[in-house]
Amino acid sequence: EKQGFKHYMLKEIYEQPGVVRTCLEDYLRADWDGDSPFSPVQLPLDPSLLENLQHIQIVACGTSWHAGLVGKYLLEQVAQIPTSVQYASEFRYAPPPLLPNTLTIGVTQSGETADTLAALEMELKRRQGLEGALQPRLLGITNRPESSLGHLVPHIIDTRAGIEIGVAATKTFVAQLMAFYLLTLELAWQRQSCDRPRLAELVTGLRQLPAQMEQILESQERYIEALSHDFAETQDFIFLGRGINFPIALEGALKLKEISYIHAEGYPAGEMKHGPIALLDAKVPVVTIAMPGSVFEKVLSNAQEARARDARLIGVTPLDEAEAQHTFDNLLPVPEVDELLSPILTVMPLQLLAYHIAARRGLDVDQPRNLAKSVTVE
Ligand code: M6R
Repeated sequence: EKQGFKHYMLKEIYEQPGVVRTCLEDYLRADWDGDSPFSPVQLPLDPSLLENLQHIQIVACGTSWHAGLVGKYLLEQVAQIPTSVQYASEFRYAPPPLLPNTLTIGVTQSGETADTLAALEMELKRRQGLEGALQPRLLGITNRPESSLGHLVPHIIDTRAGIEIGVAATKTFVAQLMAFYLLTLELAWQRQSCDRPRLAELVTGLRQLPAQMEQILESQERYIEALSHDFAETQDFIFLGRGINFPIALEGALKLKEISYIHAEGYPAGEMKHGPIALLDAKVPVVTIAMPGSVFEKVLSNAQEARARDARLIGVTPLDEAEAQHTFDNLLPVPEVDELLSPILTVMPLQLLAYHIAARRGLDVDQPRNLAKSVTVE
């Protein structure tokens, strides 16, 4: 069943390029180019679900909440729709005031998370029976359309990731990100919030992702496995990112915590100097996501500030060794890519790092202590 892989988690990390490929085949029109008079996206959604939206609210937990944060960035920056992301466990006890023309999106890989289901149920109830623009519009993003979520919510994007066995979510996360890319492109198309050449650039970039993901797996796994030996005694890690890669810093930290039991924190790199930098010394590795784009120079200077405190800096970046020598001690190279699409690539070295550190420590990677694949209790 593990097809030669030592753990399901590693197998599922390797399945990611295939999952992205399937998503693209199923939901992106192969016959679309920049001049086509139709949308590049073909999601099986009732058009009324997305009409005249003024606001989107996303509810989720854990890794799915991180996918929601990337979704917010895309929906706001590309589709120009104000979007909020809430922990389902908080939303259900402090729901925000009702706004008109709102789409509520529940994101969950298991489709069974109690808090997420309860938050969605509550949203459905409090909007049912209300007039016009306040009526419920609910969408689920999941790889388990047959789950409780599928029964509760009338519209589902099946992320095509299939069943995931490792408790640490990997391929389901990448598939949730794909759902947000596709939804954003569809909304951007409908609302004309993004010009044609830019839309075409994003579509082309999406189509290139599976090969770039394969390249990361081929070129990096051995190196990351060897690097993980250096962290046999490490007790704390910091992950930094900015912009669309800030949620990936959070996700890298969560993966490491879950399976290696090492204390790890993710921060937006610009926040370091407001407190967390006090934690740094030679014993705390700092993994920094530095991708060319709107915040590239800023992240590099944040990384240099951390390095000046003797921290070991590990860069997830396309910079080569010569370019990176003043900033990073180790490189986890990823291909240069459109900044907006980069989370799909930058998360992979972080998954591999967490995996190899935990495997090296001899831990039960697929069944970490205290955790379950579906969190069906509050
Ligand atoms: O099934 P869900 O996506 O709703 O699960 C939410 C979290 O419990 C889940 O993402 C958890 O954080 C994972 N173990 C992360 O790897």
